[in-house]
Amino acid sequence: MSRSPLSPQRFSDLDALRAQVAAWRAAGERVVLVPTMGALHVGHLALVAEARRVGRAVVSIFVNPTQFGPSEDFSRYPRDVEADLARLAEAGADAAWTPDVATMYPPGFSTRIEVSGLTEGLCGAYRPGHFSGVATVVTKLLNQVRPDIALFGEKDFQQLQVIRRVVADLDMGVEIRGVPTIREADGLALSSRNRYLTPEERAAAPRLHAVLARIAEAVRGGAETAAPCAAGIDELEAAGFQVQYLAVCDAETLAPVARIAGPARVLAAACLGRTRLIDNLPV
Ligand code: PAF
Repeated sequence: MSRSPLSPQRFSDLDALRAQVAAWRAAGERVVLVPTMGALHVGHLALVAEARRVGRAVVSIFVNPTQFGPSEDFSRYPRDVEADLARLAEAGADAAWTPDVATMYPPGFSTRIEVSGLTEGLCGAYRPGHFSGVATVVTKLLNQVRPDIALFGEKDFQQLQVIRRVVADLDMGVEIRGVPTIREADGLALSSRNRYLTPEERAAAPRLHAVLARIAEAVRGGAETAAPCAAGIDELEAAGFQVQYLAVCDAETLAPVARIAGPARVLAAACLGRTRLIDNLPV
């Protein structure tokens, strides 16, 4: 596959993007979408590397207002498209899709996708409307780009499962693949929001991964999940976290499980100061 040294080509016009995608497909190439909100870090670049391995890598950059609650960080969410494009050029992405708000939500826009069940617990319980905003924007991005495959980080595991549900329920015919979380050397999952952490909070933050790893180990053989989770919450709260949830859940339905009987995931969300961290591990 030959690649332009000027990659990625930036598209803000949907027709132009679709023409490029159609040309790649006509040439027999697979098109892989990596949806992002920008503020790209090494975790995103791992998604781009995986996309390139499979086909043409199209990266969308759009800070989606509809997935933020009124008291959340939409206005301070880091935005630097030029720096993102420079990172994508280094990573060898083929195209960047950078729509503006008017393109995504033109006047009269009135459709929202609601996913029941999966979105009710975990992050859904603390971020009302969040997954509806995510499901709607991801559906739009998939319809706009029409990729063969879309890649999502497993760090937002509930998001990944919600998107899988939407794509299956609406017969969207795109393959959704999860990509394992990239971590700092001390275990902290990479996130655009890590830059909000003060030095003291950054020093405490890896405790979240350590606690999840300990719980995953403790429950793997079929032990009850309640006690290790309660101990994990106590440890995190003592270290300065405000824990929203910490639970062992079925990996597909995300329903809490009392004992492991199949593929499961230990998941948590906790705030350190003003920064909300999420993480999860397979059990
Ligand atoms: O995970 C994200 O960055 C966002 O939720 C996504 C999938 C790009 C939708 O805005």
